[in-house]
Amino acid sequence: MSDPMRPRASLRTAVVWEVLKDALDRRVKATGRAALDVLDTGGGSGNFAVPAARLGHQVTVVDPSPNALFALERRAAEAGVADRVRGVQGDAHGLFDVVERGSYDVVLCHGVLEYVDDPAEGVRNVVAALRPGGVLSLLAAGLGGAVLARALAGHFKEAKQALEDPDGRWGEGDPVPHRFTAEQLTALVEDAGLGVGAVHGVRVFADLVPGVLVDTEPGALEALLKLEAAAAENPAFHSVATQLHVLGETQGTAGA
Ligand SMILES: C[S@@+](CC[C@H](N)C(=O)[O-])C[C@H]1O[C@@H](n2cnc3c(N)ncnc32)[C@H](O)[C@@H]1O
Repeated sequence: MSDPMRPRASLRTAVVWEVLKDALDRRVKATGRAALDVLDTGGGSGNFAVPAARLGHQVTVVDPSPNALFALERRAAEAGVADRVRGVQGDAHGLFDVVERGSYDVVLCHGVLEYVDDPAEGVRNVVAALRPGGVLSLLAAGLGGAVLARALAGHFKEAKQALEDPDGRWGEGDPVPHRFTAEQLTALVEDAGLGVGAVHGVRVFADLVPGVLVDTEPGALEALLKLEAAAAENPAFHSVATQLHVLGETQGTAGA
């Protein structure tokens, strides 16, 4: 998995990391606590958990995969933050078998909603883990990005199938069980009782551009990162992003 601190990998993570870092900073100011309690559901090997711990926060990662948790432990140790990262085996469905309700300032749910049987229940659970005033960082696969990618690869029937399928799947061989539009994701967040603070499109161009253009052209990576950052903010590009990021905020208690 990628590391937001490494330049090439940052094409996949930079937009989300910037939004998340800003949300963490705002919670630090609002709570007056420098070390927040962060929950990363489906945090895997720590793409976001380890950088968050490097900022000084206490991060709990809940993930069903023992291999991911093992890699997380190793990565946290290498980054010198083993004392601030706790890995727990569990999943979004049985979240409160392993963590306390209402105990986290920021909850991450990145690249997980696609795989849970009931996405609405998954979002309700991660929201229920938040303290009053807490913030949800939700990242999930976008429908339009998948349709565009299949079409540009010449798989026109699969592109049409994804476009028309209620779960946004392009066929039997599709490894992703659910994809979402921005409207579907924001509705899930609002139905779980949060307000939508921001929506960003993630990886609008990165997955469509041949790697050789990025790796060999001087300055290309930096320019592409800037383009991604600009497009992420523009709602016109949400419908073609590979992933969509939604920041959910507890309503009426922003300073709590
Ligand atoms: C695509 S990876 C994303 C990892 C990390 N969140 C990131 O953004 O780099 C998906 C992760 O979700 C975990 N996962 C799969 N099903 C899950 C579930 N029902 N509840 C929680 N995590 C789950 C997997 O083990 C895997 O680590």
